[in-house]
Amino acid sequence: MKRVKAIYPGSFDPPTNGHLDLIERGSKIFDELVVAILRNPEKDPLFSVADRRKMLEEMTKCLDNVSIDTFDGLMVDYAVRSEATAILRGIRAISDYEYELQMALMNRKLQPSLETVFMMPAEKYSYLSSRLVREIGQLGGAIDCLVPELVAQKLREKMDPAHKFEAVEPEQPKKSRKRKT
Ligand code: PNS
Repeated sequence: MKRVKAIYPGSFDPPTNGHLDLIERGSKIFDELVVAILRNPEKDPLFSVADRRKMLEEMTKCLDNVSIDTFDGLMVDYAVRSEATAILRGIRAISDYEYELQMALMNRKLQPSLETVFMMPAEKYSYLSSRLVREIGQLGGAIDCLVPELVAQKLREKMDPAHKFEAVEPEQPKKSRKRKT
């Protein structure tokens, strides 16, 4: 019987509950699902690819048919090399549709043997994005219901000023105190 292997490509910076919801849905309809993180040298990500890979591995460790990988270059080339026949993408709202349609049709033009499958995450994640999670996290807002606990923890570590300065600026001996103006 034909087994269907799918790729779920993305930036996952950071992975959110919405991504996890889609991975769980995808794992039910595909025999094998590879979550593939784009290694993009042009982007300045919040989390390294290695960090994102670790987070996704932890988040999906209970899903036997899900694995995590990274790729660069054209996604369709990576999918063909991996012997996948489907691409999984999520559509949260109508606003995603135009971009996703364009990408799916271009990918089809590049590699007609690959089929893009769109799935919708649960409605409660329809407003959730990695960009908003990064922004809320950086501004000190609550991100606990938006990402798995291990991701929230990693975000807090990144945002903790003590944590940041420790690495950059070792504590200097105290000099006489001047009033800041
Ligand atoms: O999570 P994102 O950032 O929406 O994912 C976008 C991603 C990684 C799926 C897309 O940018 C991609 O596939 N990039 C790889 C380069 C490529 O194949 N470009 C042609 C797209 S038609």
